[in-house]
Amino acid sequence: MKFEPHNLLITGGAGFIGSNFVHHWLANSHQGKVVVLDALTYAGNIGNLADVENDPRYLFVRGDICDEPAVGALLRQHQIDTIVHFAAESHVDRSILGPDDFIRTNVVGTHSLLKAAKALWIDQKGVPAHRFHHVSTDEVYGSLGPDDAPFTETTPYAPNSPYSASKAASDHLVRAYHETYGLHTTVTNCSNNYGPFHFPEKLIPLTIVNILLGKTLPVYGDGLQIRDWLHVEDHCAAIALALQKGEPGEVYNIGGNSETTNIHIVRTLCDLVDRQLGAHPEHRDFFPASPIFNGKQAIQLITHVRDRPGHDRRYAINYSKAARSLGYSPARDIRSGLASTVEWYLQQVDWWQGLLGRDYATWLEKNYDGQFGQPRQAP
Ligand code: NAD
Ligand code: DAU
Repeated sequence: MKFEPHNLLITGGAGFIGSNFVHHWLANSHQGKVVVLDALTYAGNIGNLADVENDPRYLFVRGDICDEPAVGALLRQHQIDTIVHFAAESHVDRSILGPDDFIRTNVVGTHSLLKAAKALWIDQKGVPAHRFHHVSTDEVYGSLGPDDAPFTETTPYAPNSPYSASKAASDHLVRAYHETYGLHTTVTNCSNNYGPFHFPEKLIPLTIVNILLGKTLPVYGDGLQIRDWLHVEDHCAAIALALQKGEPGEVYNIGGNSETTNIHIVRTLCDLVDRQLGAHPEHRDFFPASPIFNGKQAIQLITHVRDRPGHDRRYAINYSKAARSLGYSPARDIRSGLASTVEWYLQQVDWWQGLLGRDYATWLEKNYDGQFGQPRQAP
């Protein structure tokens, strides 16, 4: 069923993937409004949207998805016909240390959005056509063995962390609102994203930033866990396709064709950063502690640390349904995607240094013994 989104409400649009999606959508010259609703938690950053702040189609609203009356008012005021739901607590390590926020935002918050959408779109028939798109994760399917077939849309749910359990619960609520009330929903379950605006608590940006600062590179356990890495721009393109070409009630898996071990990712980043800094000695003034400026190599910073409890060993995605039904395929390969990401972090030093100075640094101090990636609690 073809659908033409007109006025969008983008929840979590100041976070990593949400802000990339706002850029992607506006750059592809769609008409209509883009209203971003974001609570600006530690992971949200209004600066991620600085490039679009003068676009007349764009409006930012600071608010909480759990505030159903406020969400309802926004939907009515802006005649929203499409919700793209990114807002979530997204970091697995944080969910292990404190699951409550994950249940509140990911489960209760998603339900609050569904209720507000149903009230306007189904009960009051407030817009002629509508779409509720839920951005979810491959982690709901659990962990694969080395020879298991990749996840498909019919793989049984088996979440292993409080984060993935909360996302699984939200997926089920979205399904129920389609089946029970006829809400036009679509869901994408996606693998690990990387690229610009990625908060430096996640593996790839953490590794880049730590090399630049000369800090240790924490690799959990043996580092042989596998993720299917996807450039965020490919993910945004997939979501746009799902909005326009997806069938109500359907789920689409989105992957990157890039199964890679964590240790390989970290080693590749070491090589890329060393080369970039080596080719540009003027960076020495900004990053004097980086190994390459001290007669060493970044790879020497790698430190194997205690493993994440309940750590999923392998994720892999079969995206043939999205390829067939939506015309999706990832455009970027992992090596060139990582190289462009390293360049972005070298050009956007103010962006990530600003984050390191906020309450984020306090969180790391509290939970990581004052060092990146050395979890205090033994598994
Ligand atoms: P993120 O943590 O970078 O951003 C989350 C955003 O949501 C932030 O801007 C935050 O301020 C906002 N937010 C949090 N609680 C809120 C609330 N109660 N009300 C309003 N806004 C709130 O997350 P991300 O990595 O960009 O992930 C976005 C979505 O994509 C999430 O739903 C996540 O589960 C999903 N996902 C992420 C990945 C990945 O690799 N990062 C992969 C697959 C799926
Ligand atoms: O698969 C999709 C998921 O990818 C999303 O749903 C999550 O929101 C997103 O955070 C991401 O989850 P991961 O736990 O896979 O991402 P993270 O970057 O935290 O970790 C990637 C892998 O690297 C994982 O196996 C744990 C490991 N790791 C992570 C960190 C932060 C390390 O070895 N060292 C680290 O310091």
